[in-house]
Order: sequence, then structure tokens, then C-alpha cells
Amino acid sequence: MTEKKSFLEEVIDGLSQEQKTLPCKYLYDARGSLLFEEICELDEYYPTRTELAIMHRYSEEVSSQVGEEALLIEYGSGSSRKTRLLLDSLREPSCYVPIDISPEILADSAAAIAKIYPDLEVHPLCADYLSPVAIPIPEKQFRRRVVYFPGSTIGNFEPVEALEFLARMARQAGSGGGVLIGVDLRKDSQVLERAYDDARGVTAQFDLNLLVRMNRELGADFPLDDFRHTARWEPDLGRVEMRLVCKAACRVDIAGHAFDFSAGEYIHTESAYKYDVGEFASLATKAGLSPQTVWTDDSKKFSIHYLTVPDSLGFQSGSDREPIDPDLG
Ligand code: AVJ
Repeated sequence: MTEKKSFLEEVIDGLSQEQKTLPCKYLYDARGSLLFEEICELDEYYPTRTELAIMHRYSEEVSSQVGEEALLIEYGSGSSRKTRLLLDSLREPSCYVPIDISPEILADSAAAIAKIYPDLEVHPLCADYLSPVAIPIPEKQFRRRVVYFPGSTIGNFEPVEALEFLARMARQAGSGGGVLIGVDLRKDSQVLERAYDDARGVTAQFDLNLLVRMNRELGADFPLDDFRHTARWEPDLGRVEMRLVCKAACRVDIAGHAFDFSAGEYIHTESAYKYDVGEFASLATKAGLSPQTVWTDDSKKFSIHYLTVPDSLGFQSGSDREPIDPDLG
């Protein structure tokens, strides 16, 4: 096990590389999370609304795939907006385990869900879902664990990491369990680049907020006016890259470490991988999951996959009451 690194350590590591890079999870501080919510409302940012529309349209099918009395685990639950749509259509869901790194958002949304669904056992977990987390054993009986990972957040992972992460979801769901996951599809480069670089500049603010955050939290001295945001679709890699481009050469000090930027050099701040339906299904299959159903919108912008964990993997069944090894993840 590698030690968990601090924000400062990760920043120093990332900026010391040949291609300067920063972990995208640091985009989501309080302001970043608010800006992201704003992004979801933008005309150019189609994923949120398209995924919601698919969930809406196919709620019956999704619900029959997930089945009765499910224990629903959600990674990065945030405001749990999409979850409500899912919970509305599920048949007697037993338990909901939202996992989010932001304690305030988590507490608020868990409380709201518990109020709307009084029969649902809600167990919020404040954690970084990237690290292994132990799923609590509920009081109520449940038939299977289903991991819900909407928003195409899987696209933030490098494909190798995505594979590992899918395998972890499979272990966490256990034999007979399921994974319901939103995956953005490959499409026209202009549509993709605009989705990550909108006309109003909300995504630019979201990206640049990372510099603001480093200045505030790490005492860095990034000259904010000398950086601009851009988004680039890299077809060979199958990903959109968010970048902070340096307009004029500068030297930045971060806690006594100096970093030189030349004009035109950029920091890679986030990747958003896009997958064809078949491409993703084969990735999931490699991770030990069995593709069941894929739902998409008519213009094939976004996809939602339901995958199951076969019994043959020998994982514990979703309804036994043994505590789950926290290291399963
Ligand atoms: C929350 C990671 C799914 O990649 O589409 C949106 C993040 N970044 N605009 C995405 C994001 C810039 C978003 N995810």
C-alpha cells in the first residue's frame, strides 16, 4: 500500500513531470463543486441532461434489471439528483450508501433522501471513493448490491485505472451484484471541445480555480492572469484534455519549490475519456463484469451500462451478513 499523499505532495509530483499535470480531484473544492453544478446546466455540457433523459426514459427497464430490495452504493453521490430518479423507479430499494468526499454536501443530500424515502435505510459514507471503503452492513434485508456510478466520471480514469476500478466495483457488488454506470460516448470533436470550453467561460473558471486554490491553500504564487483554460479532443487517446495554458513565461513558487513555465506550456488538469458502447463493454468484461443492457439517447451522445457480477467469481453473495473486508476495494 502506498501512503496517501497530501495536496502539496501531489502538486509537487505533478508539476515536476515532463508534461506538467495535476490530479483532477483537486478541482472539486467548495467553489469547484459549485462551478461544476453550474457546468451541468450549460447548453454546451450535454452529459448531465442526456443521462437524466435516458434514466427517465428507461426507468422501468433499469428498475427491472436492478431488481427488488437492492442495496444501492453510489460513488461521488454529490447532490444525489440522478439517484432520486433511480430510487423513484426501483422496487422497494433496501438501503442507500452514498459515498462522497464533501461532508456538507453528503450530509445534506443523505438527509434529503432519507426524508423522501422513509423506508430506505440510508448510510452516508464520507470518504474518497478512490480509496478502498468498507460498505456498512445494513439492518434491512437486501437481495443484491448494486454500485451506481453516474456522470461518466469513469472517464476521468486512465483506461488501465478504469479497468482496476471496475474490478473493484465488481468485488464490492459481490456475486449476483450489479454495476450501473454512465459512460459518455465518442463523438464529433467540436461538440466535445465545446462541452469542456463553454462560451460563458464557466468551465474556464472551474479549471482556473485550481490555481486559485493552490495560491490560497499552498501559498503558491501563480499569476492568474497569465493562464488560460482550453479543451482539446485527442482522438487517438479517446479523451478530452482540460488544460491550463501559460500565456507568458513565468516562475511559480510553491512552498519553497520553484516551477518554470515557458510561454505556451500547459498543465494537464483533467482527462475525460469517451468510449464506444462496444469498447466500454469489453473493458468491463476484462474487469470480470457481464454486460447486460446498454441504454443510449437517440442521438447516441451518452450511454448507461448495466453489468452484473457472475457467481463464478466466487465473491461473497450480496445478502450475507459477514462484514466486508475493507481491503476488498
Ligand atoms: C464530473 C468528471 C464527469 O468529465 O465531464 C466537466 C467533469 N470537467 N467539465 C466530465 C468536467 C469539466 C466531468 N465529470
